[in-house]
Amino acid sequence: MQFTNRINRIQVSPTAVVISAAEQLKSKGVDIADFGPGEPDFPTPDHIKKAAIKAIEENRTKYTPTGGIMPLREAIAAWHNRELGSSYTAKECVVTVGGKHGIFNAVSVLIQKGDEVILPAPYWVSFPDIIKYAGGTPVIVATRAAEGFAAKAADIEKLITAKTKMIIINSPSNPCGGVVDQPEFEKILALCKKHNIWLMGDECYSHFVYDPHKPYSIASVKDSKSNVIIIGSVSKTFAMTGWRIGYTLAPEELVQAMIKIQSQSTSNPTSIAQYAALEAMRGSMDTVPPMLAEYTKRRKRIVEGLRAIPGVNCEWPGGAFYAFPNVSAHLGEGKHALAKNCTELSKLLLEKAHVALVGGEAFGAPGFLRLSYATSLERIEEGLRRLEKFFSRAEAAA
Ligand SMILES: Cc1ncc(COP(=O)(O)O)c(C=O)c1O
Repeated sequence: MQFTNRINRIQVSPTAVVISAAEQLKSKGVDIADFGPGEPDFPTPDHIKKAAIKAIEENRTKYTPTGGIMPLREAIAAWHNRELGSSYTAKECVVTVGGKHGIFNAVSVLIQKGDEVILPAPYWVSFPDIIKYAGGTPVIVATRAAEGFAAKAADIEKLITAKTKMIIINSPSNPCGGVVDQPEFEKILALCKKHNIWLMGDECYSHFVYDPHKPYSIASVKDSKSNVIIIGSVSKTFAMTGWRIGYTLAPEELVQAMIKIQSQSTSNPTSIAQYAALEAMRGSMDTVPPMLAEYTKRRKRIVEGLRAIPGVNCEWPGGAFYAFPNVSAHLGEGKHALAKNCTELSKLLLEKAHVALVGGEAFGAPGFLRLSYATSLERIEEGLRRLEKFFSRAEAAA
């Protein structure tokens, strides 16, 4: 079949591939210790579910304005102001079908052939493909595990050219939990202002940060608005992945252009889900700290467990819910190596140890594995036992 160049430039998300391979084994009755999915294992809070039920009962099941109902746009701007110190208005907000949709639409509106987008690695799998689909070129800037995988302005500056249109900072980051601290983020913003570049801040994990980090938005900086695009989502903070509601905060002109593309593609995000998100934005935030407390316990257990395995190094993630160990000591061509690379190693781990995780190549980080700890402590224990057994056998054979 003949497809367009733009569709041939991208691939199916490698995380989705792992999840579906694990699902296939599960459907055959195999017990999988599943560190694959990047989604909270908590239910959506009751008050949010009730708001959706009420919306159905009140027949709020029709088309809404393309960019989202005005009360939700207002509530998002107010929530972001309250929680993260920005000063957006409803007109500077568009409701999207998840955060990913916001990224896709903002990049589609701003990036075309010949444009470069600077992206720190390890990166979330969708960023490079969304850039490529729009016709742009991702320019990868390396970060260092020892520095918590946080992007540095000095490294970014070296890659800025006349073609650079955007820098994407996902903090806290998927896949490695990297958090860019406030002074460094402000230096990156200053670079954007100096070179007239957009700074896209993906804040989908904003409220899952560990001591000493605090939720932070670059949009809290005075006079930042003209360069900044904020991508947010209710998916992780409110355990609402399936509802598909995200938002973008940006200058009104950009928001209007995003509404234009939405008007010719998805139309409005689901009306019922918008009412649920409205309750998330207006209602109590009391459900968030218990989730963070649980992630904090899991983070401690999984990082300590991984560090105890011979040949495995793991830094403490500053945020999100992913451990990102370096297993390069087990890779290579030598006869004691377990696999050539992490993609191969993740396949082996799924088939032989029944542990699902994602190889680092997918995130531009060969030698690393991503383990989501959005799963119970019991399953983490089970997974660690299996990993320990798998890697220790290899060690004994060496
Ligand atoms: C870094 C990052 N950004 C954005 C998203 C998009 O989330 P959603 O489309 O569910 O809002 C995800 C989801 O995994 C993510 O990890």
